[in-house]
Amino acid sequence: MANLIDGKAVSAKVKAEVRDEAAKLKEQGISIGLAVVIVGNNPASRVYVNSKKKACEEVGFNSYEYALDENITQQELLDLIDVLNNDDKVNGILVQLPLPKHIDENAIINAISPDKDVDAFHPYNVGKIMIGEFSFLPCTPAGVMELIDSTGVNISGKSAVVIGRSNIVGKPMSMLLLHRNATVTICHSRTTNLLEICNAADIIVAAVGKANFVTGDMVKEGAIVIDVGINRLENGKLCGDVDFEAVSKKAGYITPVPGGVGPMTIAMLMKNTLTAAKLKANIK
Ligand code: GUN
Repeated sequence: MANLIDGKAVSAKVKAEVRDEAAKLKEQGISIGLAVVIVGNNPASRVYVNSKKKACEEVGFNSYEYALDENITQQELLDLIDVLNNDDKVNGILVQLPLPKHIDENAIINAISPDKDVDAFHPYNVGKIMIGEFSFLPCTPAGVMELIDSTGVNISGKSAVVIGRSNIVGKPMSMLLLHRNATVTICHSRTTNLLEICNAADIIVAAVGKANFVTGDMVKEGAIVIDVGINRLENGKLCGDVDFEAVSKKAGYITPVPGGVGPMTIAMLMKNTLTAAKLKANIK
């Protein structure tokens, strides 16, 4: 039976470190602020945004919510980004995705000042991740790295498989694993020999968005399996991309859903917002 990786415990540790550093900055007169922008009434986005605001409270940041109507124009949203880029109280800008179809997400991401881009979605920050010289860590992949490190297993030289190639998770995830000297394979919907590739993996990161996609027969005995998926089943239950029942019988370590990667993404967002404040104040 696999060891359970407790994302709540690891995220609490990261947030406690951020809170301590934020308290020290406050003594120097530096307050930290995160602007959270949500457009429309997507229920999942509302849950995420509320969690992000709550995390700000926990670590002692100010949060500024901008809840905008579904029908806002792209230009109105760009105008708001411009105001936030120039607002000294705001260290980080988070625009919750997805945006309504009439708004070009890339245009919005590109408009966020790279030094307030705490999601690390701007092409400038994506490029920095590629060359391994990043200020902002991509939140979900960085959270996954913390979870893997919490097992005490050395990543260097391991065979890692990332399933999914999104700009937000799969691609930056592969880069972070590569920077730590894993041998990385990126699998996706056109991969023909997924079973064979996964069977050889010491580390599997599942970020496909399909319930129970990773089955027991895909996992090598003792592997680390990290589940980034959050899928809602017809019965309303949340479930990941990994068939937890079957895979936990073979894996060495596994993350639960919920309570695995989810809390880490938010903790890393707090860490990035702290980094943004320190960069602005010229503090290492
Ligand atoms: N929607 C789903 N995940 C994320 C995330 O990490 N950041 C933002 N801004 N939107 C998301």
